Amino acid sequence: MGSVQLEAVRLTKRFGDHTAVEGLSFTARQGEVMGLLGSNGAGKTTAIRLLTTVLTPTSGEFSVAGVPWTRPSEIRRRVGVLPESTGYPGHQTGMEYLRYHARLFGLSRPDAARAAARLLTEVGLNERASSRISTYSRGMRQRLGIARALVNDPAVVFLDEPTLGLDPAGQRQVLAIVREIAVRRGVTVVLSTHALPEVEEVCTSVLILHKGVIVAAGTVGDVTRAVVTLRYAQMRVPVELTDRAREALAGVAGLTVEPMDERPDILRMSVEGKPVTSDAGMNRPLQAVLSAGVPVLAFEVEGARLSDAFLAMTGECAR
Ligand SMILES: Nc1ncnc2c1ncn2[C@@H]1O[C@H](COP(=O)(O)OP(=O)(O)O)[C@@H](O)[C@H]1O
Ligand SMILES: [Mg+2]
Repeated sequence: MGSVQLEAVRLTKRFGDHTAVEGLSFTARQGEVMGLLGSNGAGKTTAIRLLTTVLTPTSGEFSVAGVPWTRPSEIRRRVGVLPESTGYPGHQTGMEYLRYHARLFGLSRPDAARAAARLLTEVGLNERASSRISTYSRGMRQRLGIARALVNDPAVVFLDEPTLGLDPAGQRQVLAIVREIAVRRGVTVVLSTHALPEVEEVCTSVLILHKGVIVAAGTVGDVTRAVVTLRYAQMRVPVELTDRAREALAGVAGLTVEPMDERPDILRMSVEGKPVTSDAGMNRPLQAVLSAGVPVLAFEVEGARLSDAFLAMTGECAR
């Protein structure tokens, strides 16, 4: 991993006596896609608005691309932002819109035209370059917004819920672009979302925010492992062979077998102190059942997904 591009130290923002984010400390490196995960009101947008200098912290500090928060105009030149909601000038074409923003950033007329064309290709809009934005789908507008966020060749890109309200195909396109820009440009991406699957899909690290504080941070694997301590596996066997399977499992040291309500064909198992995914975890019970001549119809590990971690920490419904 590359150098640290984003660092926050005890970053806090209060609105009156309401604390929107409190004591955020984290780092993100070059090329990293950091997921900022949390339900509505968790503080994602506030965190992004602080880090992009739209808001001033109540306390704490941060730096972006090595520039301290006390030099906001310099930070603004090094970041790109797709805000939570943006209006687009519907009468302009995608090309005109990006050319305009490239000019605002200070590029000459021919350079701005070249940059706009390149960006439109990068986000898969080159074929619609000369269509008015009013004819774009929501997904196309989001991709145009991402292109605009890249116009100044930023070191860190902030995308605030870029997939919100998109259909699955639109979501996939946006996520593919996010992955691409992190890998090919080597930029750091901060992507806020309340959708877990996309964090598991594209993010290299994740911060889980709950009521303004970080409740978990690290790689997706780290966060999942750190929180999900109780692990279970479910084994489905032919219902008439359940007793034989139970007898076989009784001989496995440290194994607990629980019945599942209304599903006599499913055995729910845990190994004390051992992750079920480890060799010591579930291979022995599986072998025991198979050696007893009981076919295993299904086998599934529970509680090893980020959604369980999210649920355990926030008590919120995850999708
Ligand atoms: N400008 C503001 N004034 C007062 N309260 C705010 C303001 N912006 C956000 N908040 C509050 O801060 C909390 C975090 O909001 P926000 O950062 O928008 O969360 P998220 O983006 O995760 O949904 C919420 O309780 C919200 O009501
Ligand atoms: Mg928000």
